[in-house]
Formats: sequence, C-alpha cells, structure tokens
Amino acid sequence: MKKLVLDVDTGVDDAQAIMIALTAPDVEILGITCCHGNTPLDNVLKNTLRVLKVCNRLDIPVYKGFSKPLLASKQHASDYHGKDGLGEVPDPDAPGVELLQKEKAAQAMIKIAKENPGEVILVATGPLTNLAVAVQLDPSLPKKLKSLYIMGGNTESRGNTTMCGEFNFVADPEAAYIVLDRYTCPTYIAAWEFSCRSSLPWSFCDEWLSLKTEKAAFIRKISNLSMKKARSVEYQKEIIAGKGFNPCDVFALAAAVDDGFITESEKVAVTVELDGKHTRGMMVLDYMEHLKKDHKVVIMKTVDLEKLKKMLFKAVIQTLHC
Ligand code: BDR
Repeated sequence: MKKLVLDVDTGVDDAQAIMIALTAPDVEILGITCCHGNTPLDNVLKNTLRVLKVCNRLDIPVYKGFSKPLLASKQHASDYHGKDGLGEVPDPDAPGVELLQKEKAAQAMIKIAKENPGEVILVATGPLTNLAVAVQLDPSLPKKLKSLYIMGGNTESRGNTTMCGEFNFVADPEAAYIVLDRYTCPTYIAAWEFSCRSSLPWSFCDEWLSLKTEKAAFIRKISNLSMKKARSVEYQKEIIAGKGFNPCDVFALAAAVDDGFITESEKVAVTVELDGKHTRGMMVLDYMEHLKKDHKVVIMKTVDLEKLKKMLFKAVIQTLHC
C-alpha cells in the first residue's frame, strides 16, 4: 500500500490530481495539506473539502498551511482557475471549514512522516511554502520520507508566469530553493515544459468530460473556465507545442501512484534562481555539476499517456470509495 500526503493549492488540476489519488489502486491518503497558490488559502481549504465531498471522502484529514510565501509577494492564478480557484461555480452546500484539522500543515507533515518512517510519499502540486517550513522545523524530515514528487519549475527557461519561471516556483522562490536544497530523498519533478509536451488531445478531454457520472459532471463544471482559456489560440501559442489539455499537477500525482508511469527521465542537480531581475523563481539545471551537489533529482521527460488517460477515466467513474 502506498502512503501519500498531498500538499495542494486546489486549483482545477489539483482537484483532478486528488481525484486520481482517491481512485488509484493500493493507495492510502494519510492527509492533505493546503497552501496558498492558485487562489488564496481560504479558497484552497474550501476547494479541497469540496473535492473530498464529491468523492465522499471527507474522512481524509485536511490541514491548513501557509497563506503567503516566505518572502515573495503573494500571487494567484485567478485568470486560469477562476476567482475562487475552482472555476467560479460555487456549491451552495459546500462543506464547512470546521472540518479542518486543528494541527497545522507543516507540523502534520512532520508527524505523519514520523509515524510512518520511510513510507510516506509526499506529492506537492502548489508553491512549496509548507514543505520549506516543515524541513526548517525538522531537518530530519526528508530522511523519513520515501519520496517526493513535485509539479513545478521549468527546464528550458520557458515560463508560464514570468519569462523564465513556472507558477509554483515563482509564487515562492525561496521555498522552492530550500526544498530542492534540503529534501535529499528521491525527488521527481514534473516541470512546466514537460507537462506542455505531454498534453492530451482535446478529443480525449471531450470524451472524458462527457461521462455521465456525478464526478465527471463536477470536473466538467469546475474545468469549464480554464479549458476555455486553454483552448484559446492565444494560450495555445503561449505554451510549448500547445496541442491540447495539460493537467499539470496530475503528472506528479500519476508518477507517485504508478512506478511505471515515467518512461524517460534524467537525473540532474537543480536549484532555483533567487536574484535575477528576469529570472527569479526559475529552476536551474546543473548539468556541469558546478554546485557539487550529491543529490540529483529525477526530471520527467516522457510518461505513459495511455496510463494517464485510464487514471483520468477511473477518477470519475470508479465507485469503490466514492
Ligand atoms: C502550476 O500552476 C498552477 O496554476 C497549476 O495548478 C500547476 O500547479 C503550473 O504552473
């Protein structure tokens, strides 16, 4: 059984990732920690509970994390995810925040890792503030983890937020820097350019979203706004090889739940630029080993997209837990 902790900034693609995790075989979600990011933290908390409600899994503990980055100014991705972070289609019966755990996200990560030494797979799909604080509080945390999967960063200095930077890293560059420096557990990165190149055809997306289940209807509703944007000619021009639907966060999650998902990768030491006028928040790959870092991360290059399609289908049709 794989034991997962998800650190999210729910967001449309975080919602999709959570739903995949809930329906993946032999996966237990020990907790979901929430971070500012796509939308302000209060929305992230509500959105996360909303996803769990649709999946009838409000038993999973949800923890409140940081509402702002370590040093940077706050930023959100409302243009893409909507003002509420979930497509601006409110649920009048949304679960209340009284369901949240009292314990805070960083402390919860530390506790869960301590209780399950060597077993916890941490999947981070938002800015890395919670993870950065957790490792400052407990420097031994990375040693207690099994692995870490991150959606974030960029590999070819192509950004989606700044010229050179991807949203999750740009939203908290210092946190990304600390995490890439201190988490010496096996680390896998689904970077922006890779996720663009791994986009799924819109025809798949149409088929997926037309399924007649409650969960498919939910995804359809919350994704409407972002998909309209993503299908626009301007947006497709902006992204590399824009050929379809890019469920960014889902890639990190899929790799975490299925060891055979990554079909090609490379190992390299990485860091994050903190100072550059144009390059702050950009991930830097140290192919020449200037940093003399022992720890190298696995950068995803290609993945099994047929598997991904199956996971996305299963996420909206499977009824085992939902
Ligand atoms: C990342 O930014 C967010 O908008 C998505 O949820 C994803 O985590 C892509 O840059």
